[in-house]
Amino acid sequence: MLATTALVSLSWVHAIEPKSGYQWLSEEAREMQDDEFANPGYLVVDTGRDYFKKAGDNGKSCASCHGNDGEELNAKSIAMFPKFDEQAQRPITLQGRIHACSREHLGNAPMKYDGKKAIALETFVRNLAKGERVNVNTVGPIAPFVRKGKAYFETRRGQMDMACAHCHVYYVGVRLRAQILSKGQLNGFPTFRLANQRVNGTHSRFRQCENLLRSRYGKAGADEYVNLELYMMSRGNGLKIETPAVRY
Ligand code: HEC
Ligand code: HEC
Repeated sequence: MLATTALVSLSWVHAIEPKSGYQWLSEEAREMQDDEFANPGYLVVDTGRDYFKKAGDNGKSCASCHGNDGEELNAKSIAMFPKFDEQAQRPITLQGRIHACSREHLGNAPMKYDGKKAIALETFVRNLAKGERVNVNTVGPIAPFVRKGKAYFETRRGQMDMACAHCHVYYVGVRLRAQILSKGQLNGFPTFRLANQRVNGTHSRFRQCENLLRSRYGKAGADEYVNLELYMMSRGNGLKIETPAVRY
């Protein structure tokens, strides 16, 4: 389905070893990411912390159950999202879990997927696991969803008739306008993008790339994007979480 045999063998080495997008950043962008005072993503971590402590419609806050600064949440467990949700019998993203807690445990009205508030909470929570290694389970009942996500990643789409894999597996390291193609890893998400000057969720980033391909893209939170996030996060197993990362 993908490219030619020559391309496949050339990129075989690329394909097996996960590498963070950090690898392809300029020195300046790396310094910005590494300095909590220079990295604008930390403003969103702070906003998320405020929401975390704020009482919901039933008077409880996230902090009531998970500790004032989230210290009752387990960093290793956060690094395992997306996980299989036994109740729903399908995968759930970290943000999906936060939406569920907000509705069920705070009695709040649903938040918009990848909306400002949900992104702030997700950025705060995932930052608690910064430095932990991505550790997504891909076997057992979750396996068929991983396969669906992989198929999405490898299917040509849009007027450009290209798959995610073309750029993020086969053309890794190639310059596209001002940017160098990375492996499209998710270990830095939500990420602060220099291009749009805000913190972006994974599904919003998927939409931005689909827009580039002139593809009809899905909605943030849609099942296909949950499967895609699951597959893409799992192909980064072993990478350290960098949230909030700085990217182009
Ligand atoms: C009334 C208590 C309660 C409140 C309030 C609450 N949660 Fe939870 N939260 C839970 C329980 C219970 C679980 C475990 C659910 C499960 O695994 O099925 C959970 C799971 C989670 C997880 C996944 C943890 C893991 O390791 O898998 C995250 C992240 C989380 N909550 C974030 C939040 C956020 C953010 C808020 C506020 C919007 C919130 N929670 C509010 C009880 C609560
Ligand atoms: C025509 C080439 C191209 C294709 C095809 C493409 N992207 Fe991208 N993508 C880019 C560029 C350019 C960037 C910014 C530089 C980088 O990190 O690779 C990017 C970045 C990303 C990132 C951010 C990586 C990080 O470290 O923050 C993700 C995630 C991503 N793309 C997902 C996708 C998905 C999902 C698809 C398929 C729907 C896709 N891309 C298809 C060009 C492409």
